[in-house]
Amino acid sequence: MKVIIAKDYEDGACKAADIIEKIVRENPECTLGLATGSSPVGMYRELARRCREEGLDFSRIHSVNLDEYVGLDGTHDQSYRYFMNTNLFDHINIDKANTYVAKGTGDVAANLKEFNDILDKTEIEIQVLGVGPDGHLGFNEPGETLYDGAHEETLDDSTIEANKRFFASKEDVPTHAVTMGMGNIMRAKRLIMIINGNKQEAATKLLIQDKIDPKCPCTFMRLHRDATVIIEKKLADEI
Ligand code: GLP
Repeated sequence: MKVIIAKDYEDGACKAADIIEKIVRENPECTLGLATGSSPVGMYRELARRCREEGLDFSRIHSVNLDEYVGLDGTHDQSYRYFMNTNLFDHINIDKANTYVAKGTGDVAANLKEFNDILDKTEIEIQVLGVGPDGHLGFNEPGETLYDGAHEETLDDSTIEANKRFFASKEDVPTHAVTMGMGNIMRAKRLIMIINGNKQEAATKLLIQDKIDPKCPCTFMRLHRDATVIIEKKLADEI
């Protein structure tokens, strides 16, 4: 696993954008696996700037997202569809018809079938990842076992606690989500994780301990042949 130490959040965002830019320029029709959360926001901002000012072309790019809350429609301002539109898709020349974020409302089984069908026929060139404070990837929560394909998860209390900052109250945070499984993530050709903030525990387990642990799903990244972690210096110094 390649580890890149970034000076700060903005530097990490630029380094991550460099990796995505290279892929987009070399494979202008590829599928990007995208993620939500505060970690990739700076990278999305930088990619949008490069699209606007430097001709980085997303017109033939496809995308598929890691996860979505169950119960939130794509127009809800905390849905991951809304996040992707407002943080990236509205600011680049991607065709939104070529972007896929799993549906959060309606029949969960049907939504998962659609999600799995799309994942089965998609080769993800690079999957962007953040990490939850408990080590979750997408919404693959820690447990005895992990899942291969897209599935529904009951969110851990620590995840609800961590994500309540975006909602009016903790009670408003959805209790369930649909997410790519660990297999879907691991089958991407490349992985890139941006890790910063208060993620000492997950960062230590991912980068320092030689242990693959379903109770800390991000440790599975170590098994991937082409994985890069971009970590902020401040956090790297703490682990
Ligand atoms: C959510 C998402 C994860 C993301 C995590 C961390 O739980 N489902 O995919 O990695 O948030 O978010 P942040 O980057 O804001 O720390």
